Amino acid sequence: MGTARVVFDRWGDRYARRIASVRSSAVRDLFAAASMPDMISLSGGMPEVSRVPIAAVAQAASEAIMHEGAAALQYGSSEGREQIRTIIAELMAEIGVRLSPGEVVVTAGAQQALDLIAKAFIDPGDVIITEGPTYVGALQAFSAYQPDIRCIPMDDDGMRTDLLEEELKRLGPRGAKFIYTIPNFQNPAGVTMSPERRRRLLELAREYDIPVVEDDPYGRLRFEGGHMKPLRSLDDEVIYLGTFSKIFAPGLRLGWVTAPRPILAKILLVKQGADLCGSNFAQVTAERYFLGTRWRRVLQGLTATYSERRDAMLAALDEHFPPEARWTRPDGGFFVWVEMPPYVDCASMLAEAVEHGVTFVPGDGFYPDGRGRNCMRLAFCYAEPEKIAEGIRRLAEVLEDRLELYRAFIAAGAIEVEEGAA
Ligand SMILES: Cc1ncc(COP(=O)(O)O)c(C=O)c1O
Repeated sequence: MGTARVVFDRWGDRYARRIASVRSSAVRDLFAAASMPDMISLSGGMPEVSRVPIAAVAQAASEAIMHEGAAALQYGSSEGREQIRTIIAELMAEIGVRLSPGEVVVTAGAQQALDLIAKAFIDPGDVIITEGPTYVGALQAFSAYQPDIRCIPMDDDGMRTDLLEEELKRLGPRGAKFIYTIPNFQNPAGVTMSPERRRRLLELAREYDIPVVEDDPYGRLRFEGGHMKPLRSLDDEVIYLGTFSKIFAPGLRLGWVTAPRPILAKILLVKQGADLCGSNFAQVTAERYFLGTRWRRVLQGLTATYSERRDAMLAALDEHFPPEARWTRPDGGFFVWVEMPPYVDCASMLAEAVEHGVTFVPGDGFYPDGRGRNCMRLAFCYAEPEKIAEGIRRLAEVLEDRLELYRAFIAAGAIEVEEGAA
């Protein structure tokens, strides 16, 4: 009972080659551990759905059936209902992007849009460019199409466009199929791309004639500082992915993509092969929710909750984490990224952390090539502030234990530490 059984997979030689390069997401694997009693989860990027007004959603779902039963229960158009695409166009106008509902395709979350884009663009061996580290779900979606993923490092201002330029020079014009970026409160790094870098990225993309894919699930979850213009508002050739997951609820699986018309037509084509059309029931429910609820007030409350949790995490890190650690200080979103010196293997500490009652995501899951083992992603979106503080304290204990060992090795000269490395 309770012990894992190793099952021989007799279909092992039948699978497509592309599936060999798809790795399971550590975030999903940690779901089971995260639900153990007294476990403090700093791993999953799960929105605080308990703050979504359940009565309002029940009302919206009931109206979807009572008033639009036939439409809600029937197949719909592949691009999604006109009504929800109109709401999406209005949401986009608020962030400086003018478009018509006809320029929007509704998807099953932004995740499906990532898969559809990969399917439409990537042949085996094609180069694509991402930030490093980057969103694990994007790596999963992309790697199924066997690309050669080049990761561009970031600093506190987001993707290093000087390093992007070097990579593009090496690759030459049209040398990559697309550049994928999460400019706001990046997952996993928590950093936001500066306006200068946004402009430079777009200049480079134009110069080398490479499409940009902008993934923006967290843009409206800003705690401080001014609104940052999305790349799409600066250049209408940008492919932009949005989602209702963080401003409403991920359970409805509703997101969207807008792109230049020829690209959108290809995305629509591959979507038809994927699922014919999205859920009409979910779309009508979301329409009713957005038209009939004071959703902005709900979102304000949610953002205040996340901001308080971010503060709790940063304060606890300041108090408990060892001097060797460095971490980002996000102005919004869900995540803090911790970097330890290169000789520290965070991935191997996870089991110990789980024993201590806390989960985190080791950094190597956010790279396609094993980098990031000295890093960890900490999510502040889900646990209450006191739990976050306690979780960080527990994690610091695990780190301290390990560091004691490393410090002894360093003192004995068994590990060389570069000048300037913490
Ligand atoms: C950067 C990023 N892109 C896409 C997604 C997928 O979101 P959705 O629920 O819209 O599929 C997530 C979810 O956490 C994310 O962090």
